[in-house]
Amino acid sequence: MQRNPHKEPKPEIWRILSKMRSGRLRTMALKPEEDAYGQEIWACYQGKEVFEVVERDDGYIDPSPHGPKIYFSRYADWAPYHRRAMDFVKGRVLDIGCGAGRHSLYLQEKGFDVLGIDNSPLAIKVSKLRGLKKARVMSIDDLNYKPDTFDTIIMMGNNFGLLGGFKKARMVLRKLHQMTSRNALVIADSLDPYKTDNPDHLEYHKQNKEKGRMGGQVRIRIRFKRYVGRWFDYLMVSKEEMKEVLKGTGWDVRQFIDSEGPPYAAVLGKMAQPRPLA
Ligand SMILES: C[S@@+](CC[C@H](N)C(=O)[O-])C[C@H]1O[C@@H](n2cnc3c(N)ncnc32)[C@H](O)[C@@H]1O
Repeated sequence: MQRNPHKEPKPEIWRILSKMRSGRLRTMALKPEEDAYGQEIWACYQGKEVFEVVERDDGYIDPSPHGPKIYFSRYADWAPYHRRAMDFVKGRVLDIGCGAGRHSLYLQEKGFDVLGIDNSPLAIKVSKLRGLKKARVMSIDDLNYKPDTFDTIIMMGNNFGLLGGFKKARMVLRKLHQMTSRNALVIADSLDPYKTDNPDHLEYHKQNKEKGRMGGQVRIRIRFKRYVGRWFDYLMVSKEEMKEVLKGTGWDVRQFIDSEGPPYAAVLGKMAQPRPLA
């Protein structure tokens, strides 16, 4: 086909911008060597003894001995606040960052129609192998479902964190508003980052605030053997901060569910409309 000689080719940047606006530009898929989360979940699925190593951008390393084992835990072993959060689930469910699928599988067994998404191909493979019928490799950044597709969105295992930071959280929450039914709920858990006396954490919060970030907006990556995940922002908020993040997004807190420590769950309800973006 002959090109129109009078039509200037679009510069690359315009093509990218217009794809971003139309939602046609997908976040670059994780390369196999970046799927550190998936590799640890895969190893755990195969019965290997696995640690989870979280590296923060100030060099702080947090190895968790329960690591991915907890992603395979059964309902009976979950903390009471975690179990209580599941009582609010209704209708068609989207599980964002489903990991090995423990919440999705529990809800599927209860008869709910559940879709689990995760940006880790291996985590999705494991979820499917464990019996999850609907599971997709997808990043929270690429959500693009039609209105009224879901009645409940769950973000468990500290996955309020996937909202990343103040600005991104508000953008994603608006998207969740569009994709859900009229009385939809978001059920998410977080951890109050300020309930600590660890001087490294306290210093990190201070430096974050000096940089204009939220105190508990941790920049982390997962490491497993020779696999190194991508850096990403994971957001931990106090209850007051959560309310601040929600303002104008069309969601408000219906109920907090406390644990005995810093973690807590929140049930967010849908209000009529988000405020238009300024
Ligand atoms: C802390 S784990 C929680 C897993 C699961 N919800 C649970 O509680 O067992 C976080 C999960 O989020 C996934 N994840 C990380 N970044 C993501 C993104 N941008 N989009 C979707 N999932 C993501 C990880 O692969 C991992 O499976």
